[in-house]
Amino acid sequence: MIRERQIQTPTASIEIRPLDSGRLEQAATLLAHGMRDNPVHVEAFGADPAHRQQRLARFLGHLVAYVQANGQLLGACVDGELVGVLGMMKPGRCRPGLMDWLRFAGMIVANNPPGNVLRIRRWLSVWANNDPVEPHWHIGPLAVLPAYRRRGIGRRLMSHCCAQMDELSATAYLETDMAINVAFYETFGFVVIGHALVLGTPNWFMIRPPSRRLADAPHS
Ligand SMILES: CC(C)(COP(=O)(O)OP(=O)(O)OC[C@H]1O[C@@H](n2cnc3c(N)ncnc32)[C@H](O)[C@@H]1OP(=O)(O)O)[C@@H](O)C(=O)NCCC(=O)NCCS
Repeated sequence: MIRERQIQTPTASIEIRPLDSGRLEQAATLLAHGMRDNPVHVEAFGADPAHRQQRLARFLGHLVAYVQANGQLLGACVDGELVGVLGMMKPGRCRPGLMDWLRFAGMIVANNPPGNVLRIRRWLSVWANNDPVEPHWHIGPLAVLPAYRRRGIGRRLMSHCCAQMDELSATAYLETDMAINVAFYETFGFVVIGHALVLGTPNWFMIRPPSRRLADAPHS
């Protein structure tokens, strides 16, 4: 059960580390809680918050397992408690093979009403169609528990991720459905390369070229 409370978090007490496989379910639960009200999720998983979070948790349960197997999941912990999660998929892995697609599609059909299945499919097709051809690390999902937001935890997760991209001289790519997040990602050197309406909601596609170092980005 995720507690709802406002927490004072000194930056020094935030620990960022790779998540082990034993915490995948917890990561999916956290992400479903943190991303429940994102506009695309409201459109894709339904208006009722409880149903939406439940469906999203199943969807993200599969996604985090895939991300863990094909990249890395970072966790942000405060006093040992997991309060934020960020996923990073290796180049080429954001286009799953046939068996992974079939498993993913089966999970979506089994856990969502038919109308939502079609909406989820439309959403994922728009995102897939905007995926850059050039090799890239695909960043996401990302969320911090509401009670821990605006304390620098999301920024610490992204800094860790960008430092890894810089070490690898790699391109990073992500999608977002919130304008406020666009400004957040811009501070790390991401730039908008496209946008589209997804189920009626504005979405932005952003890339961080390999030459950008963390030190070049403001506020980092
Ligand atoms: C985006 C998110 C991970 C940021 O985590 P966080 O721990 O609050 O981030 P930080 O405290 O490190 O930084 C906050 C920054 O996020 C941006 N931001 C995101 N949402 C914001 C909001 N509702 N109000 C103000 N700023 C917001 C601002 O740029 C802010 O920078 P500032 O504090 O210097 O003004 C968190 O807001 C979240 O979980 N959102 C819901 C899920 C989501 O949208 N995930 C991203 C999907 S692409």
